Amino acid sequence: MNNDLSHLFSPFKIRDLEIPNRCVMPPMGCHLENKDASVSDANIAYISRQASGGIGLVITEIAAVHETGAIGMGVYDDRFVPGLTRMARAIHDGGAKAALQLHHAGRETYPGLKKGYALGPSALPSLVYGMAPKEMSLDEIRMIVESFGKAAVRAVDAGFDAVEIHGAHGYLLTQFMSAISNQRKDGYGGDFKSRARFVFEVVQEVRKSVGKNFPVLLRISAEEYIRNGYTVEDVQTILPDLVQAGVDVFHASVGTHGSPGGVTSAPPEFEQGWNVWRAKKCKEVVDVPVIAVGRFNDPRVADKFIAQGDADMIAFGRQQLADPDFLNKAKAGQYDQIRNCIACNQGCIERLMYEPGSSVRCAINPETGQELLYPRTPAKTKKKVWVIGAGPAGLTAAQEAARLGHDVSLFEKEDTAGGQILYASKAPSKQIYGDWIRWQIKQVEQMGVTIQTSTTITPEKLENANVDAVILAAGGDKIIPTIPGLDESIVCTAWQILGETVKPEKNVLVVGGGLIGMETADFLIDKGSKVTLVEMLPKSPVPNYTSHGYMLHKRLKQAECRFRFNSRLDSVGKNAVTLLVDGKPETLTDIHQVVLAVGMKPRAELKEYLANKKIEHYVVGDAQTVRRIIEATDEGAKAAWSL
Ligand SMILES: Cc1cc2nc3c(=O)[nH]c(=O)nc-3n(C[C@H](O)[C@H](O)[C@H](O)COP(=O)(O)OP(=O)(O)OC[C@H]3O[C@@H](n4cnc5c(N)ncnc54)[C@H](O)[C@@H]3O)c2cc1C
Ligand SMILES: Cc1cc2nc3c(=O)[nH]c(=O)nc-3n(C[C@H](O)[C@H](O)[C@H](O)COP(=O)(O)O)c2cc1C
Repeated sequence: MNNDLSHLFSPFKIRDLEIPNRCVMPPMGCHLENKDASVSDANIAYISRQASGGIGLVITEIAAVHETGAIGMGVYDDRFVPGLTRMARAIHDGGAKAALQLHHAGRETYPGLKKGYALGPSALPSLVYGMAPKEMSLDEIRMIVESFGKAAVRAVDAGFDAVEIHGAHGYLLTQFMSAISNQRKDGYGGDFKSRARFVFEVVQEVRKSVGKNFPVLLRISAEEYIRNGYTVEDVQTILPDLVQAGVDVFHASVGTHGSPGGVTSAPPEFEQGWNVWRAKKCKEVVDVPVIAVGRFNDPRVADKFIAQGDADMIAFGRQQLADPDFLNKAKAGQYDQIRNCIACNQGCIERLMYEPGSSVRCAINPETGQELLYPRTPAKTKKKVWVIGAGPAGLTAAQEAARLGHDVSLFEKEDTAGGQILYASKAPSKQIYGDWIRWQIKQVEQMGVTIQTSTTITPEKLENANVDAVILAAGGDKIIPTIPGLDESIVCTAWQILGETVKPEKNVLVVGGGLIGMETADFLIDKGSKVTLVEMLPKSPVPNYTSHGYMLHKRLKQAECRFRFNSRLDSVGKNAVTLLVDGKPETLTDIHQVVLAVGMKPRAELKEYLANKKIEHYVVGDAQTVRRIIEATDEGAKAAWSL
């Protein structure tokens, strides 16, 4: 790939504001704020880290302009100014310019609402939370418009260099723009332009409040990305007038939280820069700069879009969370050192949306969101540590323990490190998981830790090891049920299929509709098999509201994968199986392969030994309870931090 970064790293000006380069950290709510919505020490630690890795412009997370729309940090009162001043200073100290994102969540406020009701253009339920807001009166509309202006003044007072009005993703401004949420009969409803009136008023108010020269950005979802939603062509009709109203820069995002598949923070199925064409469409109708966003990992790819003139600046969201230093690494030509975001959404957007009370993390970077916990100096006492198992948990533990100065030995019973990720990365669109685990392996090796593969640790080996501590990251074992006929030659496991030690056959029955079963079905279909998937629950345990789950369900449905719910495998015969469907037997013939994917259980063998011997030890990841990558990496890191 062409390593030219000259376009991306060229300075940029918005009005009189000089930005060192074209790289933007887009707003990312992190829920690290204090309970009273003010800026916390954790916020400062997080934003300092994010601002110091080479990014040119940091746009903060949402800051609520009014209490009725608050779902995180606030800017709706003067009491927030001291904290926000610290935040702006922290961004400047990192070398970046700072913009505050001004926000009102409208009907999406319900989860954060302490009292009263949420406000919205019409009393139509949120696509995310299902609850309807109160239709805003004209007085309430005026009140919120004015609150954007007052909030912008507080941003100026706090020392921010710019403000960004949040007009995207299905929050209040988008709710007005969208015919799905705005069915008003007054001057704020009607055709697209009339529905956008509220946005115009907010922009005008902010411009009036901050004066002529202060940079004002407007973030919009350039397309609503939902059936009967507004289009990019609709948006083009209002952009020139929005420039007249006071917008200096458009930030062209896409979709709402109600859009299918979480496209706003798109999964790996979407390639880097997939959304740039919408930024380009915006540029066609206005002369002001446009920021493009969407799945950017690689600064070289971003540079290309700037060079082509498709966008003026590029926002890197989740990539910043995965590796806040990635731009400096790219500048130094150290591409192989960059920890690339895998777009899993597990620690970031989906954690915030679906795990109430949680704050931002990154599934593959345990520092993110935990900057105050993250140890930065070597451990006081150097320990001899054995890490057992080189999956995500063990690799993270080994890297962190070595970074903190311990003497680390890492053991893996298989001939290749990587654990379950070696299988997880085989499903369509998940090769990126394999790239990550190979990067992780290299990082461990760079720390001077030799991964001793093909080495199974047993109690006997531990007996003579003379270690100070053990991190047990041995993962889980597949469950093999006891069902008549499982010794038939047509039976194999998901791991044999994904590990490609058994060839897929034509008509395949996959037993188990969890993630492993569904991904194995996806893999088999990709290889040309016809798949029936048997699941004893009444519906799939893989939720389709997560971006990964949505894409997986969609692909299997399109490929006509046959789901049999409320069904369990009763017996296997020669090219036939018997199921119990709602308790009644049913025979399926012409089955060429039966693939077992009925779950995993933690590997327990060494736990008891370590406890009995009173050796300092930590059981992490799937070895503790079978879960996900984020728990494995987090527990692996924390074990190392505790040594
Ligand atoms: C097909 C598939 C798809 C998946 N998809 C996802 C996904 O999309 N998102 C997600 O979050 N999770 C996913 N998972 C689950 C995820 O891979 C696991 O939760 C994660 O790998 C757990 O990490 P771990 O390090 O705890 O265990 P493992 O990855 O299981 O690693 C444990 C390692 O320990 C080794 N070991 C065991 N005993 C010993 C011993 N005595 N001595 C030496 N070595 C030993 C094992 O060989 C193994 O390499 C998927 C799993 C599979 C199988
Ligand atoms: C954890 C998280 C929080 C987010 N919070 C906000 C937010 O506060 N305001 C906003 O406009 N967009 C928010 N977004 C969307 C991002 O700004 C960005 O548009 C999106 O993640 C796509 O960029 P990426 O593919 O580079 O991650 C958030 C995304 C994530 C992952």
